[in-house]
Amino acid sequence: MGSLSISRYTSPAGRECTLAAARLSGVNPSSTVLDMGCGYGEGACTLASEFRCKISAIDISDENIAFAQKMAVERHVSHLINFKVMDILKADYSTTPFELVLAEGGVLSFVGREKGIDTARSWLVPRGWFAFSDLIRLSENTPSEVLTIFEHASYRYETEKSYRQLISDAGFDVHFMSLVPPGGWDNYYAHMARRLDDKEGFFSDKRIKLAFHREIDVFYRLEAFRYIGYIFCIARARK
Ligand SMILES: C[S@@+](CC[C@H](N)C(=O)[O-])C[C@H]1O[C@@H](n2cnc3c(N)ncnc32)[C@H](O)[C@@H]1O
Repeated sequence: MGSLSISRYTSPAGRECTLAAARLSGVNPSSTVLDMGCGYGEGACTLASEFRCKISAIDISDENIAFAQKMAVERHVSHLINFKVMDILKADYSTTPFELVLAEGGVLSFVGREKGIDTARSWLVPRGWFAFSDLIRLSENTPSEVLTIFEHASYRYETEKSYRQLISDAGFDVHFMSLVPPGGWDNYYAHMARRLDDKEGFFSDKRIKLAFHREIDVFYRLEAFRYIGYIFCIARARK
């Protein structure tokens, strides 16, 4: 990809994480992959372009799915991706399991982490792979202003240790786990800052603009990257 191309990932993780997950899990043109909470479809399009595999990509937002479908056509990969407006919590893929399930960009926090991990597990072939990225807390001494910028007051952060436990309890072995490098946050906020000029859609809402302005301000002013991390994990079902 050229350096001027705009990424449509909406998280500090992104292209490198998707590629690492697909490479480690041996995705190839005969593989089927599920992208849970695909957002604007960047992960699904990346997989289709690089690996020519078949992808099901679901998101609860019809606006996101419409955008993703258009982008897949522009990138000449729409024949490889089945986009669907769908709530993860109401879907069932247990009779058509996947070799790799992706839950990138904090999707597990949206649907409930235990529930999301168990759901992904139930949609995998035996010894299938699961990759996700999500926020975690790095320090016990995180300023409350930092804790509350990402979510409402009752948000409960995992730590690396507690996330490892959740993954293990669900029947997975962790094959790779790492924090997204600080540059990932810069890319993410650069993308968000560009979207704040949108005149229509999700980012045109005044409250969304304000929330992102505040998040970006607190993140850099209080150096939130010292307290909050973005973890990326590739795990494999034990059986
Ligand atoms: C932060 S975005 C990440 C998008 C994408 N995976 C990425 O990495 O760029 C989270 C996505 O999860 C979707 N989402 C949240 N709850 C969902 C649910 N219950 N079912 C399906 N999608 C959901 C949102 O609409 C949003 O597109």
